[in-house]
Amino acid sequence: MSKTSADPKKVFVKTYGCQMNVYDSTRMQDALELDGYEPTDSLEDADLVLLNTCHIREKAAEKVYSEIGRIRKLKDARAGSDRPMMIGVTGCVAQAEGEEIVSRAPAVDLVVGPQSYHHLPALVQQAKTGNRVVETNFEIDEKFKQLPAATAKQHRDRGVAAFLTVQEGCDKFCTFCVVPYTRGAEVSRSVKQIVEEAKGMVAAGVREITLLGQNVNAWHGAGPDGREWRLGELIFELAEIGGLDRLRYTTSHPVDMDEGLIAAHRDLDCLMPYLHLPVQAGSDRILKAMNRHHSVADYFNVIERMREVRADIAISGDFIVGFPGETDKDFEDTMRLVETVKYASAFSFKYSVRPGTPGADMNDQVPEHVKNERLQRLQALLNQQQEGFNGDCVGKEMQILMEKPGRKPGQLIGRSPWLQSVIVPDTLGQIGDIVKVRITDAAPNSLVGI
Ligand code: 5AD
Ligand code: SF4
Repeated sequence: MSKTSADPKKVFVKTYGCQMNVYDSTRMQDALELDGYEPTDSLEDADLVLLNTCHIREKAAEKVYSEIGRIRKLKDARAGSDRPMMIGVTGCVAQAEGEEIVSRAPAVDLVVGPQSYHHLPALVQQAKTGNRVVETNFEIDEKFKQLPAATAKQHRDRGVAAFLTVQEGCDKFCTFCVVPYTRGAEVSRSVKQIVEEAKGMVAAGVREITLLGQNVNAWHGAGPDGREWRLGELIFELAEIGGLDRLRYTTSHPVDMDEGLIAAHRDLDCLMPYLHLPVQAGSDRILKAMNRHHSVADYFNVIERMREVRADIAISGDFIVGFPGETDKDFEDTMRLVETVKYASAFSFKYSVRPGTPGADMNDQVPEHVKNERLQRLQALLNQQQEGFNGDCVGKEMQILMEKPGRKPGQLIGRSPWLQSVIVPDTLGQIGDIVKVRITDAAPNSLVGI
């Protein structure tokens, strides 16, 4: 049966990039649902397609244009029918390129930056009248005030482990990074707003919350006592919510790892023993050129403090190879840092020139083949460490949060305290349960338990 215009409208959101984009996509869907747009998993079935994009590296940004080309064919096929298709670009490419997108991609009806999502339903209406819409204002505070809270059903549909943005934007200005330009200056939500949202999530069945921020540990929100709180205090407060069994936070900056946060790791069982702490490079010279505000020794100190209070903490990181001016010796320093820290997992990237950032104008850009070689060596070492970390889990018992059905019948996929995926038989419990599991096998990216 063909659809008529009386049927509810459908929105398909494709998310690129980081976890904050995943969270943003859910908030956009919540806002649009109030406006009569049901979420759909089928691109072909959508009245509105939103590409929630990432600008962090060149490749990520370019992907968007090829995807628009593909969707354009569907849109063209529907032109003139009673179900025309609209295409919107949201996220960091929308913010960074704005008007340029509408001129480069005529199929795009609206372009909305990450700080304007509260206007999305109105902007969609506006675009429907045939005017192409571009909005890239910075209104982070207003956005959080105006975006509707998710309903219990919306939370439930999204699972037992969920994200909650507490902080957005960045004031650090690492010289390689577009985030301060695409997400704007650092803004922290208030304790009240965050606690309310967390309580709503838990009431709907969420058992694990990951607090999100580009610089999450720089969070400094207004407390109910009129003081400005830091992340450690916020975590102590959230830990009081009955039924919230697990807390995580990401991504942190080494200079903002304060004693309050370290104390939370010492005192709270619900704060998972996992720290994503990007260092980017292991040479002080390169860290300085990157404007990271810390040395290798400072980073080691933070790791040491964390391990003092929580011996089993898993450390994860981000690395960039081939930053302008990086010599063989600088790179060897990064390899040595990795050997010293021993990572449970990590992300590593070749430096990607981002127009408008200071790194783009630096001399001594590193040739592509050198970046490739360095990345290969670094990833081999990081993979070896991750396999070692997972291998050491075999034979151990651990608490697993059952999250979703596995790929094969009879299986569930759960999450360990150290963020590993664990495949378990569904006879052990249901989604949402936290169960004790014995690990019998380890693969590079997952564990098996019974
Ligand atoms: N090139 C390569 N990697 C980058 N990242 C950020 N900007 C760039 C860039 N220009 C990486 C950093 C950051 C992660 C989210 O992406 O490692 O921590
Ligand atoms: Fe980018 Fe550095 Fe800010 Fe992280 S801390 S978002 S890498 S500028």
